[in-house]
Amino acid sequence: MPEKFGEVALKIEKVNKEFPAVKALTDVSLEVRKGEVRALVGENGAGKSTLIKIVTGAYTKDRGDLYICGKQIKRNSPLISKNMGVYAVYQAVMLAKDLTVAENFFLGAQPGKGGFINWKKMYAESEKFMKDLGLDIPVRKNLSELSVAESEMVTIAAALWHNPEVVIFDEPTAMLTKSETKILFRIIKELKEKGIAIIYISHNLEEVFQVCDTITILKDGMVVDTVPSNTLDEESLIPLMVGREISEMYSKKEFEPGKEILRVENLSGEKFTDISFSVKRKEILGFFGLVGAGRTEIARAVYGVDKIQRGTIHINGNEVKIKKPNDSLKNGLGYLPEDRKDLGLFLPQDVDFNINIINYERSINAGIINYRKTAKLADEYIEKLSIKVGGPFQKVSELSGGNQQKVIIGRWLAKNPDVLIFDEPTVGIDVGTKSEIYKLFGKILEQDKGIILISSYFPELLGMSDRVIVISNGRVAGEVERKDFSEELLLTLAMKYYSNADLKEEVLNG
Ligand SMILES: Nc1ncnc2c1ncn2[C@@H]1O[C@H](COP(=O)(O)OP(=O)(O)OP(=O)(O)O)[C@@H](O)[C@H]1O
Ligand SMILES: [Mg+2]
Repeated sequence: MPEKFGEVALKIEKVNKEFPAVKALTDVSLEVRKGEVRALVGENGAGKSTLIKIVTGAYTKDRGDLYICGKQIKRNSPLISKNMGVYAVYQAVMLAKDLTVAENFFLGAQPGKGGFINWKKMYAESEKFMKDLGLDIPVRKNLSELSVAESEMVTIAAALWHNPEVVIFDEPTAMLTKSETKILFRIIKELKEKGIAIIYISHNLEEVFQVCDTITILKDGMVVDTVPSNTLDEESLIPLMVGREISEMYSKKEFEPGKEILRVENLSGEKFTDISFSVKRKEILGFFGLVGAGRTEIARAVYGVDKIQRGTIHINGNEVKIKKPNDSLKNGLGYLPEDRKDLGLFLPQDVDFNINIINYERSINAGIINYRKTAKLADEYIEKLSIKVGGPFQKVSELSGGNQQKVIIGRWLAKNPDVLIFDEPTVGIDVGTKSEIYKLFGKILEQDKGIILISSYFPELLGMSDRVIVISNGRVAGEVERKDFSEELLLTLAMKYYSNADLKEEVLNG
């Protein structure tokens, strides 16, 4: 590896890890040097998170050696790895929710004498620390009062507070806004300059090339290769990850739109006002907006999770009253939510149960569930979405993050409602599966259904939508036809109802 980096900070040698259903890691070796940003990429279930958990001591390895800054760690634990300077930022926030930001920094080591905590000092020091990082988050607030993105930024800050040697990011940007992502990338750069070794896991290859020096590709628990990131590009990286070429990522099938299937008129809720739009059969209606614009809130209201204050919803020409998800489900409306933790996954239950939970009526005959049918349905979607499982009866809690996500997608594809709202469906999903999901969109439309696609990812939104509704600060700012799609136009509309000039500048400068 290039000599521009410092000494080896993290060394993993021939690490193996086996779970009952799968060999998650086989002879994995890698070295990350001080000041190096190493990407770890691979399909859902390739073993990325497992490897990280072994480094942080959350899992024990079966075989192999682990060295941190030259010291061999014979027996690891979360505490030992932290004491050695290894900090990981997982997507699921790992902090104490009932403590303030500042308390989370000092956890177990509050300043003060004789059992008294010096609160003033604690708040002052942590406040300064946050400011220096460029983060504007009140340190006296409890974590539970912060947004998911803010708590993640606090997790990152809390890691840096301890002067780490190695910092690991496992899909850090999935829940971050554009400006928070920018702050994160700046922080990573600063860490790098300080000589800290960084591991960066992401399915967003654009980001990988933006922030990483070197890339290690994992496939089926084995290292395929480690290469400097400037020796390849997305196109040449993908086949190494998925083992095949992907000729057309966004394989959009164009149809003549059919009859109107869903119409929403003058809908108002807590975070949006006077929203009107309609979806036709055989059509994908995209929803664009800045993070926080209200797209998810609108979807939740239409699906009946959140309360509607005013407005009407028509399905197939008939007005329907939707007060709870069951009402919309009965009327042929489905919603695949964005928040993974809120996805409605039953983690301790198996994949079969989680796919069938809203589909049992398909397998009931005379009041009796035909379990052969339910198993068949589960198998069908395990295969269609290449969900990596030991079998349909494996617990969802044992699946990788992306494969858990696929279970929810499978559940809704099996339900096959007339209109399906996909909210950021491919965040955390590997490239190969992404292209399969886009193909499945075509199959859904073929069956005369309609799709609403909420996405912040331009290539996906522009690649797949027939029309895009732009939401700005809780209002409809405009509607754009496919022939007129451009990032600039969508961004301009997205800012229509914000008065903040800084925001405009920030958005336009990416
Ligand atoms: N606690 C566990 N029990 C059983 N199997 C597990 C457990 N944790 C992970 N696995 C299995 O190990 C394999 C690797 O999973 P891992 O979470 O490391 O994948 P990943 O590369 O992080 O994927 P993703 O991109 O989806 O996050 C998967 O087949 C997964 O089902
Ligand atoms: Mg993972």
